[in-house]
Amino acid sequence: MKNFIFRNPTKLVFGKGQIARLNELIPAEVNLMITYGGGSVTRNGIYDQVKAALKGRKFIEFWGIEANPHVETLRKAIEVGKSENINYLLAVGGGSVLDGTKLIAAGIASDEDAWDIVLKGVAEKQIPFASVLTVPATGSEMNGGAVITRAETREKFAFGGDYPQFSILDPEVTYSLSKHQVACGLADAYTHVLEQYLTTPGQSRLMDRWAEGVLLSIMEIAPKIKENPCDYDLMADYMLAATLALNDFIRMGISQDWATHQIGHELTALHGTTHGHSLAIVMPGTLRVLKEQKHEKLLQYGERVFGITGGSEPERVDKAIEKTEEFYRSLGLTTRLSEENIGNETIETIAKRFNDRGVAFGENQNVTGDVAREILLACS
Ligand code: NZQ
Ligand code: ZN
Repeated sequence: MKNFIFRNPTKLVFGKGQIARLNELIPAEVNLMITYGGGSVTRNGIYDQVKAALKGRKFIEFWGIEANPHVETLRKAIEVGKSENINYLLAVGGGSVLDGTKLIAAGIASDEDAWDIVLKGVAEKQIPFASVLTVPATGSEMNGGAVITRAETREKFAFGGDYPQFSILDPEVTYSLSKHQVACGLADAYTHVLEQYLTTPGQSRLMDRWAEGVLLSIMEIAPKIKENPCDYDLMADYMLAATLALNDFIRMGISQDWATHQIGHELTALHGTTHGHSLAIVMPGTLRVLKEQKHEKLLQYGERVFGITGGSEPERVDKAIEKTEEFYRSLGLTTRLSEENIGNETIETIAKRFNDRGVAFGENQNVTGDVAREILLACS
């Protein structure tokens, strides 16, 4: 196990009716701006709950943070925040509203252009922010990451910074999600675990078991959610699993991959593919191309998560990869670029982007543009 420092300061406020606690959770004296997406919250009653909870309090609202939040939109929010002397933000929405709000928090605290903050990779200072989460998927409600798109250049990059002060997770807010959004959310959470688990073997038994527990839970609830998308206990497990998949708990002292995410972000930037869906396409390709490097972990994963014990080692590895792709498909997602009409031109664009940037991803830092090309060909 590597050395590490662990600190996750986000207060989770979980359960039915918890949005009503907003007033006590947000400090009384702050100058508050609430951020929203495109309006789903007005149709499913979440907006009314927020308004009721904050009745009698002064705040301003910023609407229109889109899915895969655009820096162009967030710059406007930063401008409003600065001119209104905002010193506390509440994001009400999915990962996109939350991530966007993390950049707004950084932009208000800085004189730099918002895109420069993203490119730096780290926000040095942010005003405090919190969230009412409406999509279980990204873990953004309890982590310090954010992913921002620059529409102008079709680029998508991540940066790190502060964690939300608190996040309210009421499983009932998920009832209005479409089947596709739920499928993408489950795929995203599952892939987050794989990115931290299918790496270097023998680093931590504890992290392995913890990751396998989250994977097994997601696999168990996924088909049941398809049947019963408004079952409180199922959605509660889904919501908490998505948070635990990316809130630092399963990655203490271990190496991490994230190549699939980096490639997936490019697919989203270039084609608008929903984030979780992009991962369902790329992850099986990553595993096929890197199966030698990930051999031992794939064997362990196959045995402990899918119960694969028979056959030679290479057969078991192949079976584990097949089962992974099957799982994504069982959610109702396609897993091949050809099914989304994405072809060679995109593959070459992504390979060139990585090569031009001189980047190399993965636990061994060997996923260059050329390896990304192989991965994309393996999921064509
Ligand atoms: O904008 P509105 O009208 O609210 O509609 C949203 C949006 O269109 C809708 N929605 C949200 N809550 C709903 C709802 N519809 C019905 N009922 C509800 N309760 O859902 C659509 C998608 O929302 P979005 O926030 O984009 O989804 P998600 O939470 O999956 O976030 C995706 C973004 O997070 C980034 C992704 O790259 C992508 O930009 N990620 C962030 C990470 C992080 N911060 O750690 C890690 C992830 O790997 C990921 O990259
Ligand atoms: Zn993700």
